Amino acid sequence: MSEQPSTPEHIAIIMDGNGRWAKERGLPRREGHRAGAESVRECVDACKQIGVRFLTLYAFSSENWNRPAAEITALMSLLEKFLDQKAEELMKQNVRLQAIGQLDRLPARTRAKLDQAMARTADNTSLTLILALSYGSREEITDAARSLVADAAAGKLKPEEVSPELLASRLYTSPFPDPDLLIRTSGELRVSNFLLWQISYSEIVIFKKFWPDFKQTDLFEAVAEYSRRHRRFGAL
Ligand code: IPE
Ligand code: IPE
Ligand code: MG
Repeated sequence: MSEQPSTPEHIAIIMDGNGRWAKERGLPRREGHRAGAESVRECVDACKQIGVRFLTLYAFSSENWNRPAAEITALMSLLEKFLDQKAEELMKQNVRLQAIGQLDRLPARTRAKLDQAMARTADNTSLTLILALSYGSREEITDAARSLVADAAAGKLKPEEVSPELLASRLYTSPFPDPDLLIRTSGELRVSNFLLWQISYSEIVIFKKFWPDFKQTDLFEAVAEYSRRHRRFGAL
């Protein structure tokens, strides 16, 4: 069996624990989200250093719309600030920004800033940073099924032509490879509707620490752990 590369091509992260980080310090949850943005910077730098090609960050889930309006507003305004401040830095770092999720549910101003940052960085060639925003895997798979059924109803697709590859080509993630490594912070042992299809064979590394405490060295540690794993993909 051939050796697997020691650096993952694609890392996906469930950035969890911002609220608890803030609570521990007697701060409002918003401060946890603000501190979490610094960890994003750390991860982008770390991924660039070791040649990771794709970094997907779970920033806002479909279910997060059920949070109090004040928290949603705070998260959207932090995202806008991140996009305003980060676009210049992403250009300098040659990082391409992409997004997955039901982006049409985002507030118009947030969506406009996102579109602007994605357009500006579209030709960058080092790391691709993919933000999962208003993202839910069940919604994504449902959308993909809907698009296949529409083709079938229009007489353009036969049942026997439906394959895993065809379904994957209708997911929001179709331009990207599946994650090799999935990281979750804050110790929860669940995937919370994140990339259910795409993580079928991802290696999973869980950190107890909260997301705002996640630093470059933690990302390197996860990659070292990944490189020690033996991926079997069901074979021997
Ligand atoms: C992760 O931190 C960020 C988002 C889900 C937007 P949380 O806000 O879930 O923080 P905890 O898990 O409640 O501590
Ligand atoms: C997952 O975290 C979503 C994001 C990190 C954006 P949650 O805090 O929303 O997930 P649960 O509620 O712990 O499953
Ligand atoms: Mg959480």
